[in-house]
Amino acid sequence: MEVRPEKQEDDQAVEGLRPRRFANFVGQEQIKKNLRIHIDAVRSRGEALEHLLFYGPPGLGKTTLANIIANEIGASIKITSGPAIERPGDLAAILTNLKEHDILFIDEIHRLNKTVEEVLYPAMEDFALDIIIGKGPSARSIRLDLPKFTLVGATTRIGLLSSPLRDRFGIINRLEYYTHNELKEIIDRAAQKIDISIEDDGAAEIAKRSRGTPRIAIRFLRRVRDFAQVKGTTSLTGPLARECLVSMGVDEHGLDKIDRKYLSTIIEKFRGGPVGVETIAAGISEAVETIEDVYEPYLLQLGFIERTQRGRAATPNAYKHLGIAIKKQPTDQDGLFKEG
Ligand SMILES: Nc1ncnc2c1ncn2[C@@H]1O[C@H](COP(=O)(O)OP(=O)(O)OP(=O)(O)O)[C@@H](O)[C@H]1O
Ligand SMILES: [Mg+2]
Repeated sequence: MEVRPEKQEDDQAVEGLRPRRFANFVGQEQIKKNLRIHIDAVRSRGEALEHLLFYGPPGLGKTTLANIIANEIGASIKITSGPAIERPGDLAAILTNLKEHDILFIDEIHRLNKTVEEVLYPAMEDFALDIIIGKGPSARSIRLDLPKFTLVGATTRIGLLSSPLRDRFGIINRLEYYTHNELKEIIDRAAQKIDISIEDDGAAEIAKRSRGTPRIAIRFLRRVRDFAQVKGTTSLTGPLARECLVSMGVDEHGLDKIDRKYLSTIIEKFRGGPVGVETIAAGISEAVETIEDVYEPYLLQLGFIERTQRGRAATPNAYKHLGIAIKKQPTDQDGLFKEG
């Protein structure tokens, strides 16, 4: 089975677990610290918060942070996404309905189309909306004032953001993968909230296999609970969690079938790389974007792959993890020796 950090339907059931305050949001310490300072500063000056961008792999808490910010400043939040805003008029309608200091959250902001993006520039910079009235030679542009709002953008693909858009964010935050201890705390809190009792080693086992991602940790907690129920036990122990996750194809680093296929493709078909991501994608029948957004960031973090100019290469750690011996690659040096 595949472990996708992207949102799935049954994650909806645990929406109520989203922390609502910084105090309940585990991890991302640097981001929280900076945000608290900014929020305190603008509150005392009675200003709107600077426009903020969150980026990083799915399931690390971008949407959660946007909601917390709104709560902390006591403002409303309007949530939309790049692909949902089809025409400039759609964005104009959203903007003119905002109130002073409101948060406008645009998820997948890299998917805004160009004409919509152009409406956003003056809105972000001057809190103004330029609209054209009339047609042909008599057309004229008028400028409407907008309330001083804060745009919070989120993306898994910062590289696809145009630089004029990126430059208009005052604060850019990269979300990091969570440590095992942080994930364990998230699991313990979630268990408490949904009334599950879990042993210490059970939570630790889930944390270890959740690829640094709260969304996955919470999902695994629920799977382990179901597994226990089927087994007729209420005690969520380490061995039980391990048995459940192994049966789902999740290994001790949280890698699933596709991660392992990705690594073994580089190692076995391309002698460890480097090999281009398109070639790997074709080899394992996955979309290049999914590989770049979902699989590679975690494999890079684990130190299982390297990104080079000529493509992806497997590291000795990856060979070790898959239990494959490293074959010595013939080098130019060897060639010189033979000829000489
Ligand atoms: N630091 C945290 N502490 C506790 N729970 C968290 C934390 N971060 C995320 N979560 C939980 O993980 C889930 C995913 O978080 P969220 O939806 O904010 O991720 P995201 O980064 O917006 O993902 P996507 O890129 O898919 O939109 C939520 O259910 C949330 O409750
Ligand atoms: Mg989100």
